[in-house]
Amino acid sequence: MLEVDGIHTYYGQSHILFEVSLSLEKGEIVGLLGRNGAGKTTTMKSICGMLHPRKGRLVFEGEEVTGEKPYQLVRRGICYVPDDRRVFADLTVDDNLDIVYRRTGEWSRDRVYEVFPPLKEIPGRRAGFLSGGEKAMLAVGRALMSGPKLLLLDEPTEGLAPLIVRSLEEQILRLKDAGISILLSEQNLKSSLALIDRAYIIDNGRICYRGTVKELENNEEIRKMHLML
Ligand SMILES: Nc1ncnc2c1ncn2[C@@H]1O[C@H](COP(=O)(O)OP(=O)(O)OP(=O)(O)O)[C@@H](O)[C@H]1O
Ligand SMILES: [Mg+2]
Repeated sequence: MLEVDGIHTYYGQSHILFEVSLSLEKGEIVGLLGRNGAGKTTTMKSICGMLHPRKGRLVFEGEEVTGEKPYQLVRRGICYVPDDRRVFADLTVDDNLDIVYRRTGEWSRDRVYEVFPPLKEIPGRRAGFLSGGEKAMLAVGRALMSGPKLLLLDEPTEGLAPLIVRSLEEQILRLKDAGISILLSEQNLKSSLALIDRAYIIDNGRICYRGTVKELENNEEIRKMHLML
């Protein structure tokens, strides 16, 4: 479904990503793991068109999409949910969902509320007054409204209480059942174990490991080196 082939991304003069390659099949949840500053967000922004790699290619559903703008990629079904869970603070939950561009009629507010029941209880609340967990659900819910085929979830559970994390994880797994592919970034392996099928580890802008969750669990050296016990 997605193939990232040897991309190099820069911020101005700073070379951040070096020859990053990864791929994702339909219906997979793949982890992009790495420490603070490793290059996870930069990779996701390079995939969704917010940053343009200077070298390398992006292929989505068999078509080259290198250089396309975010709105073009959203129309193809690629949707990025940033780590700061940007929602419109002054708008209600309902309005935050309604305002989204919709690629297909597949997703409605009611369907989002089925995936995230807590939101159903507070449709009229302004997003600025939501809890961290509710905001995280709304941010993913907004992405769903656009009818994504591929979701890029940037540290979706960061900073949330353990109980909330578990329920968000269950909800994310339901998206997989709905046929959506997910690239999920996390700082440590542990917090993504419940969700991912396999993982890439990125360090200093380079992919330094790829493997299944089982392989990672058995590879103590790699886990220790990247502080992902
Ligand atoms: N706007 C920017 N301008 C210049 N350098 C940046 C910018 N954003 C990030 N960087 C640098 O790029 C590198 C990769 O950052 P990135 O945000 O992709 O890491 P990350 O893996 O997402 O980290 P975190 O876990 O903290 O979110 C870091 O060295 C960071 O300092
Ligand atoms: Mg980041």
